[in-house]
Formats: sequence, structure tokens, C-alpha cells
Amino acid sequence: MRIYDLIKKKRDGKELSKEEISFFVQEYTNENIPDYQAAAMLMAMFLKKMNKRETVDLTDAILHSGEQINLDSIEGVKVDKHSTGGVGDTTTLIVGPLVASCDVPLAKMSGRGLGHTGGTLDKLESIEGFKIDVSMEKFVDLVNTNKIAVISQTKNVAPADKKLYHLRDVTATVDSMPLIASSIMSKKLASGSDAILLDVKVGSGAFMKGIDEASELASEMVDIGKSMGRDTIAVITDMNQPLGNAIGNALEVKEAIEILKGEGPEDITKLCLELSAHIVVLGKKADSYEEAYKLVSEKLTDRSALRKFGEFVQAQGGNDAIIDDPSLLPTAEKHYEIKAGEDGFIDELNSEEIGLVAMMLGAGRETFESKLDYAAGLVLKKKISDPVKKGETVAVLHYNDDTNLESAVNRFNKAYTIVAKIPQSPLLIKKIIR
Ligand code: URA
Ligand code: CA
Repeated sequence: MRIYDLIKKKRDGKELSKEEISFFVQEYTNENIPDYQAAAMLMAMFLKKMNKRETVDLTDAILHSGEQINLDSIEGVKVDKHSTGGVGDTTTLIVGPLVASCDVPLAKMSGRGLGHTGGTLDKLESIEGFKIDVSMEKFVDLVNTNKIAVISQTKNVAPADKKLYHLRDVTATVDSMPLIASSIMSKKLASGSDAILLDVKVGSGAFMKGIDEASELASEMVDIGKSMGRDTIAVITDMNQPLGNAIGNALEVKEAIEILKGEGPEDITKLCLELSAHIVVLGKKADSYEEAYKLVSEKLTDRSALRKFGEFVQAQGGNDAIIDDPSLLPTAEKHYEIKAGEDGFIDELNSEEIGLVAMMLGAGRETFESKLDYAAGLVLKKKISDPVKKGETVAVLHYNDDTNLESAVNRFNKAYTIVAKIPQSPLLIKKIIR
């Protein structure tokens, strides 16, 4: 087999066989195919697309490029949750303890943030002492004891994806349905859970800007999961404005604690209860969604989930005193208030742009090497459809380093609009795909 022939075949819109796809992935991982040929192949795949069978075979090839984690020694139906990437998406920190307090084991390998999107690992590391590099034995042990652990993905899981993702990132081939689906699902399948809940984001801050594309991506991933024997559900959720009010690592941990205390923003609280209810059904701790929703709501109200969060933080070396005293989290020295220029209602709050504002203040990474300021970020005081008066605060920027402050302020001012007539507030859960 020659890679040249395979590139030509895909370029001409023909279907690649399982063996051909596996050859491409294996030989690229082993560095027998150079980046320029792999880049040409990815662009051919992007432009000519891949059918369902090819996408499943690509997933399988990436999955088999490395280690497959065995979680059999964890009791119960292990559930994993994955979000396709959002802004201010703190849900794992809330959903994790919620489902764990319902005895559903959540064994999660998570990633870091890049660009306008945040990553769960960065948020957790903003807690003093929190360790995300944990051995597999310890990971299994933590999940068996506490029903929850979140660690960083080991280097050996889907190494082909790491190489391919870096190449896609610089060749404008990230936002392709089969490439995203196989990238995400290969990692989820290699991570060893029995069931998977996918939170597919749609809107201004997401890869998928429209509901049709998001549904197609979700169906594709659910089909892959099922074809590999995993119970998989996708929930399509809104990313037309950031989730909750806080964006930034320590700020989001603080918000997660408020939510677990029942004192957080309504939108994200409701979303977390709904996601958790689906996971509890997948984890076979309730027979119906309604029963599961009732159960997770009780765990929130009676503060079981809050206590679980504390156990989780402590078990991974973090300072759990932050729960009673969130001021122990990193705090920014400086603040800047964005003020409304006119009366009206908030219409647009572009998540991607607002994610970039947080990044510029130090909350996110421009490249994989960027260093984070855990305290940096912003807190929205208004969300879509909220009334606002001229001079009222729309958001507070938190920062230590003011190098980018001026451009961050300008960017924020362009990222939102005020209208005279009250707009509809976007529905958070748009669709569920089983
Ligand atoms: N997240 C991934 O892990 N892979 C993609 O291709 C896109 C988002
Ligand atoms: Ca948030």
C-alpha cells in the first residue's frame, strides 16, 4: 500500500477501505508518513467527507493507535461525560459530584483548554494542591472509593489523535464532522467507560454553529458509540452565550461551589440537573429520566453533592477548605467594569468572543505552551434577555496583568448588543439524540 495512492483515491471522492484507513493512521503514528502527506489526506477527507463506515473505521484505527484503559475493576456501570467544548462550561465540576452522590461511578479523563474554550483540568488545578497526574491504579482506587475521579488523559491513549489534532489545528481541517467525531469518540472509547454522555454544543461559541450540523455530529457520535457496544446519548445544548456567569478557572470553581450550594445561576443549575439525570439513567441507578431527575435534585438540595465535591477535591490532594471559604482560591488584584452604553435588553453575548476576552486576560491558552493566570477571567452580570440601564455593569473583568486590558475591553464591547425589544432567552437543551 502506498500513501500517495490513498490520498489520490480520497481526493477523487472514493471510499477508503478499513485496511487503507488503518494503514494511514498506523503509519502516520509511527512516523512513516510525513506531515505533508498526512495534511493532504486530512484535507481530502475534509473536502470529500467520509461516510459512516469510514468514520467508524477511522475511529477504530485511532482508538487502536494506543492503550485501551481497562476499568473492569471499578464496580457499577462506569459513565463518562464529554463536552465538545464551550465557554464557561463548568458542568463537569457539578455533574460529577451530583452523579457520584447517586452512586454512579464517573471515571473521567479530561483535557486542557485551548483558544476560547476552557478545560476542566485547568479549572481543577486552580485549586491549591489538586493533582491530575495520577497512576491508573490510584485512579481506579479513587473511583471505587469516592465514585469520582478526574485525571489527565495518559499520553498512551489515542496517540494518533494527538498528532492528527495538532496537524488539523494548523491546516484548517478541525471543523469536519467525521474528523471531530472520530477524534472525540476514539478517546472516549479508549478510556474504558461502559456508557457515554455527549454534550454537543451549538451556537456562537461552538464548532457547530447551527442545529442541523450539531445534530448530524451528535448522531454520528452516538452511532459510533453504539456500534462499539457502548450505551451513548447526546444532548445538544446552547452555546449562543457563555454558560453560567463566570468564565475563568478559579472563578468557575467558585461558581461551581455556589451552584452545589443551590445559590448559583439558574441556567447552568438546571442544565447540570438534566445532564446528571441522563447519566444516572445510563448508570442504571434509576429506571426513568423523571425518577433520575428527582434523585439528583434531592442530592443538590440536601447538599450531598456539595459534600461529594469536597471529598473529591481532598482525595486528589486539593484544599477542600475552599468550599467554606472560596476566597482561598486565587483572586485577581484588579477589576474593570464593562458598562452599558444605553438602555434596553441584552441581545447577543457572543461566546467565542467572550471566551477570547477571558483568554486575553490570562484565563486561557493561545497555544499549548501558554501559561495561565488561574485568577483571571470575567463575570457576567447580565445575560441574554436581561434588561439593562445605561451605565449599569454588564460584566466585570478580573485580571492581574493589564497588558491586554484595552484590547480585551474593546473586544468585549463588540461582543454584545443591546436592543429595545426584549429578545427570547435561548433554550438550553435543544435536542436529545439516543
Ligand atoms: N475535540 C476533540 O477532541 N477533537 C476534535 O476534533 C474537536 C474537539
Ligand atoms: Ca460558567
